[in-house]
Amino acid sequence: MAFDVDMIKKVYSRYDERIAAARQVVNKPLTLSEKILYAHLWDGNATEDYKRGVSYVDFAPDRVAMQDATAQMALLQFMQAGRPKVAVPSTVHCDHLIQAKEGADKDLARAKNESSEVFNFLSSVSNKYGIGFWKPGAGIIHQVVLENYAFPGGMMIGTDSHTVNAGGLGMVAIGVGGADACDVMAGLPWELKFPKLIGVKLTGKLSGWAAAKDVILKVAGILTVKGGTGAIVEYFGEGAESLSCTGKGTICNMGAEIGATTSTFGYDESMERYLRATGRAEVADAANAIKQHLTADAEVYANPEQYFDQLIEINLSELEPSLNGPFTPDLYTPVSRMREEADKNGWPLKVEWGLIGSCTNSSYEDLSRAASIAKQAVDKGLITKAEFGINPGSEQVRFTADRDGLLKTFEDLNATIFTNACGPCIGMWDRVGADKQEKNTIVHSFNRNFAKRADGNPNTYAFVASPELVAAIAISGDLGFNPVTDTLTNNKGEQVKLDPPVGDELPTKGFAVDDPGYQAPAADGSAVVVDVAPTSDRLQLLEPFAAWEGTDLKGLKLLIKAKGKCTTDHISMAGPWLKYRGHLDNISNNMLIGAVNFFNEKTDNVKNQLTGEYGPVPATQRDYKANGIGSIVVGDENYGEGSSREHAAMEPRHLGVRAVLVKSFARIHETNLKKQGMLGLTFADKDDYNKIQENDTIDILGLTEFAPGKPLTLVLHHADGTQEEILANHTYNAQQIEWFKAGGALNIIRKNQAK
Ligand code: F3S
Repeated sequence: MAFDVDMIKKVYSRYDERIAAARQVVNKPLTLSEKILYAHLWDGNATEDYKRGVSYVDFAPDRVAMQDATAQMALLQFMQAGRPKVAVPSTVHCDHLIQAKEGADKDLARAKNESSEVFNFLSSVSNKYGIGFWKPGAGIIHQVVLENYAFPGGMMIGTDSHTVNAGGLGMVAIGVGGADACDVMAGLPWELKFPKLIGVKLTGKLSGWAAAKDVILKVAGILTVKGGTGAIVEYFGEGAESLSCTGKGTICNMGAEIGATTSTFGYDESMERYLRATGRAEVADAANAIKQHLTADAEVYANPEQYFDQLIEINLSELEPSLNGPFTPDLYTPVSRMREEADKNGWPLKVEWGLIGSCTNSSYEDLSRAASIAKQAVDKGLITKAEFGINPGSEQVRFTADRDGLLKTFEDLNATIFTNACGPCIGMWDRVGADKQEKNTIVHSFNRNFAKRADGNPNTYAFVASPELVAAIAISGDLGFNPVTDTLTNNKGEQVKLDPPVGDELPTKGFAVDDPGYQAPAADGSAVVVDVAPTSDRLQLLEPFAAWEGTDLKGLKLLIKAKGKCTTDHISMAGPWLKYRGHLDNISNNMLIGAVNFFNEKTDNVKNQLTGEYGPVPATQRDYKANGIGSIVVGDENYGEGSSREHAAMEPRHLGVRAVLVKSFARIHETNLKKQGMLGLTFADKDDYNKIQENDTIDILGLTEFAPGKPLTLVLHHADGTQEEILANHTYNAQQIEWFKAGGALNIIRKNQAK
């Protein structure tokens, strides 16, 4: 769909020279990740051997992808940059704003009606600025990107943390905030700390019930939600080559759940097959011509321990199907141990729903393998115990799966086929009875299972598994069911066993689609008018944030000391709030409402130091703002993990929070804070977290000499009149300090554009 083969050939044409230059400076065999990174340096040929995990480097990504929830803010920001057209090929995908309820047709019609203002805005802004627009119902961003735009050896950024899915087609694809996307679309370099490299060697071959999903569930169990932070995970080995392209996509997709910058695989035959099957033979031919650059040097994979910062080895032949959860995607339990673990931990064994879909697992192969289980259930006279919901990944997948009878198979099990969209994966699910907040279990093939993520119920225990295992467990209705060993009772009272799944990597009759849902932009968009009504409660044009006042920040009130996990979902909740993604003031009413207050263990209940009363976080902060008082947010480890949404940084900025001080940050969120001109600091001594008291007033000193690598001093004024000094570290480089001083990166872009 308008994939830009000339752009891809141009990228490939510079590979020879760029790789030769990289060899000169690095002076040792190159990994695939390094080849792609060095081939995309903003300044052309490499002149320096960048230090992994240390050097900040400017890159020139080939593409930008945005989904409808994040595109609103990204494009509102882009409009402020003053450019006539995007500088690199970019696309918008309408997938997040469609609630799953009754089934695809009704749900889609309702969403189009409810969010018409937003869809019209995105359509017209795309039309004006040369951006490809994928309409509601066209599919989930990462599946559509894999089918149409991803290419081996390319570099892409996207305003969604699962942009990394495109690693399945050999890209370095990275999730960013809208502010980063805005920079790249405006023709500016994109900065990234040169990542560390984790090698994952896959030996053996999957068989039986084990699926590509189980590889990443295992890796998540090993590395945990933080283990990939700041690193690219590069998969290789005979096992890697044996996986399908979309299976590789699944593995890369959930790299986001281990905090990895991205994940990737070397170009191989599975990718070539996928490119040809999705109408991109020209790209496959072009990739074949530079094949040697699209995988690591042979020496790297022969002696990986010498070239990666960390190495993991997994034998696919021994891999057991598993389920990760509840509440965190790294809690790994092989299916054979699930009953025991569930009993031990009090996880409800009765499964209420099985959901198949999301950008992680909604390919044709996924549907066909899960359908093979569904078909057996029908053939063997089994009645599904749990309810079943399916979200196909794209209209192309849906159309083809429908033609091939796969959807009918699910419907025979009374499954509801939802729209080709995110749906329950992003909390856009009108689940009957969820408001009763009953303790219950669901299984799904998604990537995230944080509390409340799918249905807003904090007592829903969500487990992540492969689509085929989700199908089997939903049929059994029993979380402890192990299809490898256990039998089920059918409608004749017989004991029957499910055979291992089978499926087609690619449709044997080829993909087909009637209307893929794509709208090409106007050749000349200068006359296109983008309307944003001043009265809208969904969209709001942005005002620039104020520049730093040039002094130390004194008298800041502690807004909240967040305890434990504080993801971007806790900071800026999704679900019903998605509809305000284009309206900064309205969405700010969800700021930190999911964070747990350290002092009373409650959510959305903090002390207002001006009144002494407890109240919601946003209202308390608005009171400080109204009184001209700045505030500070304190957090725990890996603060801001989860998604790339810059709202989690913009909301506190908009409401007058001046600094976020934590034990450690998730990378994307830390960068987003910097982009918005906010201070993102870490405790020099993590134990100082314990010194922060509920009634503290805090000064931040040293800002007039704010410099890279130089800690800042914080003075804690306690309510009893005592005070303590602590040190706070930061990772701002010289340019990022300029962003802080200007009040945000966008203020600098606009100033430069006006020159
Ligand atoms: Fe959508 Fe869920 Fe992926 S929200 S983009 S399907 S992680």
